Amino acid sequence: MPDFYQLTRPLLFRIDPERAHSMTIKAMKAGLSPPGKTLKDPILEQTIWGLRFPNPLGMAAGFDKNAEVIGPTFGLGFGFVEAGTVTPKPQHGNPKPRLFRDPVNEAVINRMGFSGHGMNAFKANLEKFLAGKTSGGSSRPPGVIGINIGMNKSQKDPAKDYGVLIRMLGPMADYLTINISSPNTPGLRDLQAKEPLTELLGAMMEERKKSCGNHPPPLLVKLAPDMEEEQRGEIAATLLNAKVDGIILTNTTLARPEGLPARFASQPGGLSGKPLKDMSTQAIKSFYRLTKGKIPIIGVGGISSGRDAYDKIKAGASLLQLYSALVFKGPTVAHSINEELLMLLKADGHGNIADAIGTGVGLNKKSSKAANGS
Ligand SMILES: Cc1cc2nc3c(=O)[nH]c(=O)nc-3n(C[C@H](O)[C@H](O)[C@H](O)COP(=O)(O)O)c2cc1C
Repeated sequence: MPDFYQLTRPLLFRIDPERAHSMTIKAMKAGLSPPGKTLKDPILEQTIWGLRFPNPLGMAAGFDKNAEVIGPTFGLGFGFVEAGTVTPKPQHGNPKPRLFRDPVNEAVINRMGFSGHGMNAFKANLEKFLAGKTSGGSSRPPGVIGINIGMNKSQKDPAKDYGVLIRMLGPMADYLTINISSPNTPGLRDLQAKEPLTELLGAMMEERKKSCGNHPPPLLVKLAPDMEEEQRGEIAATLLNAKVDGIILTNTTLARPEGLPARFASQPGGLSGKPLKDMSTQAIKSFYRLTKGKIPIIGVGGISSGRDAYDKIKAGASLLQLYSALVFKGPTVAHSINEELLMLLKADGHGNIADAIGTGVGLNKKSSKAANGS
């Protein structure tokens, strides 16, 4: 039977996508988000980087760029929330329209360009939430909070922006993600090359040590799906050398797989949703192999069912995220995915999700057991 969201979706999809998103954020801020359900089961729980994840599914970056609705997002059943991408200064991003959906293929193209209110507003919102003052919030977050950081369009020296963000926001984050993979900030993806990446990571590790005291948050790097195996090999070696704590795979793609309507596919920007699914799973497999499972991976890209989630876990992801499926499946999506994933794990006889990580890759498990980062 179609749920309420499936019935109202045609109406909602008559609204401009960016407007629909702002309305959603406003409604969530006002405490009007539909009641979600949270699945609790020890099979889905893990401790990674010393952080307890009540379930493996997180809200991906880009949904809550200004850290305005962290509490209500947990309320939808996510085990963790990654707010951002936040930049030091506020910026408008690219001209509108810049967000497009294709309901038939359950795909999204965006060229937002890191639009947001900047780090001061972000920090104030997060402080308010952590102090338990937001509507419906509590003083103890029910899951893990990640902060995804990026540079302003006008910045010529990336290390300056990432550095100030680590200084300002690092002490408040459960984990930090260095985003060098959004396709809509000119030059950003160039940081995914050996030399600039080595330099940037070295400086950021140093900054984290200086700014975050005795409890430095894990530092993760978010990568694009659009790269050859050789580049992946170089990056994997660089991440291992730099002792990065985690990898997020993947951001949106610049590719346009066959079958998308021409009017949609011709929009410049990053593609997400179902057509990204297999590309992202391949990238996870590849990095899992290249790093011998030694760096925990957060798998993201086209997850919209428990089966999709399970495929990414088997490919080597320790945790998962989604964004586009929320647009097409509605607010119950996290709960349904967790429910189906739990069923699949049980059917394969796994006592905990950690036992299934990388089982589809064929690495020697003994040498790769560090995938839980503990
Ligand atoms: C509208 C939109 C905005 C996004 N903004 C960001 C962002 O600011 N930072 C980021 O790292 N990823 C951003 N992403 C990428 C998502 O976090 C995710 O990596 C990607 O969409 C693939 O997941 P999905 O197929 O489940 O959507 C954005 C995605 C969408 C659809």
